Amino acid sequence: PKRPFVLGIETSCDETAVAIVSADKHILAHSVLSQIEDHSEYGGVVPEIAARQHISSLDHLIKAVLADASMQISDIDAIAATTGPGLVGGLMVGVMTAKAIASATKKPFIAVNHLEGHALTARLVDNIAFPFLLLLVSGGHCQLLAVYGVGQYTRLGTTIDDAVGEAYDKTAKLLGLGYPGGPAVEQAALQGDAKRFQLPKPLLDKPGCDFSFSGLKTAVRRTAEACVDKEGLLTLQDRADLCAAFQETVAVCLANRLGHAIEKFRKKAGPGTLPFVVAGGVAANKVLRARLQAVAEEAGLTFHAPPLALCTDNGAMIAWAGLERLVASPDINDIDMAPRARWP
Ligand code: KG4
Ligand code: ZN
Repeated sequence: PKRPFVLGIETSCDETAVAIVSADKHILAHSVLSQIEDHSEYGGVVPEIAARQHISSLDHLIKAVLADASMQISDIDAIAATTGPGLVGGLMVGVMTAKAIASATKKPFIAVNHLEGHALTARLVDNIAFPFLLLLVSGGHCQLLAVYGVGQYTRLGTTIDDAVGEAYDKTAKLLGLGYPGGPAVEQAALQGDAKRFQLPKPLLDKPGCDFSFSGLKTAVRRTAEACVDKEGLLTLQDRADLCAAFQETVAVCLANRLGHAIEKFRKKAGPGTLPFVVAGGVAANKVLRARLQAVAEEAGLTFHAPPLALCTDNGAMIAWAGLERLVASPDINDIDMAPRARWP
């Protein structure tokens, strides 16, 4: 493996994650501790519980990851941590730990924007040159971006209400499928008939690259209410058909907006083969991936999506984004940067 080696820490939501990556794109060690079970009885992430779990797990996880890579902390060239956006209690745990290690070892601290972590992950896996078109779909975001370089992004479109992952999670919750909703809805949809229910496709007849998903969730609720029996229960088949209809609608909306974004991006980026990357937790969805791949390849773009484990939150994406920032500006040190809940 080639230096620099960067240790990355992710604590912005309900995963405590640590990884070490090298300049030649090796993940030397990584570990993700999910807190799903700690939050599931509440139907969503409880910020206070999340922060406390990060505190009790993070030190052990860093030690374990170093041991896994057969490294000492002194072998690390820089420490990166998610500094925002996210739940501020969790962010503080990761950032203060990273800063403490950086200060003690006299190495730079690199503040990483969580979204930039998702955005650059595909470059850790594939050789993707700038510029590329990016669809970032996670629990908190749904954006189409033109990526011109590290830190250089132009937003082409965004959601005007809910994020896609949020729509999955809310749909799962109202259908009694538990949290997190994405994988559960995808699973249930496998047994469903996507054509049985017609759900509205927001913004589909409008130009541009923006998204809207809040109406979809409401439509799922109304349809479910119309189907329930006297006890207020849905059959398994109703539930599967609703999940399939929901997912089909999301796929059609994402594909339509991607089509518009490709036109915009082509005008700016010029001719030649351009890459399209889908990233973020929702990119783990196989049905959506396949649909987006078809649209991108049809339009002559190459298709890239990180492997499933690098789509949802992880430490490698933060280590890698930190490494890219370090390589771009070798004198970097963000020791004065504070955690921020919002970071546009
Ligand atoms: O990127 P991520 O791990 O965390 C955020 O930065 O938000 O994304 C989490 C989101 C959740 O809303 C989850 O339901 C969704 O990604 N997700 C999925 C799938 N796996 C995770 N959505 C659809 N299909 C999946 N297979
Ligand atoms: Zn994320």
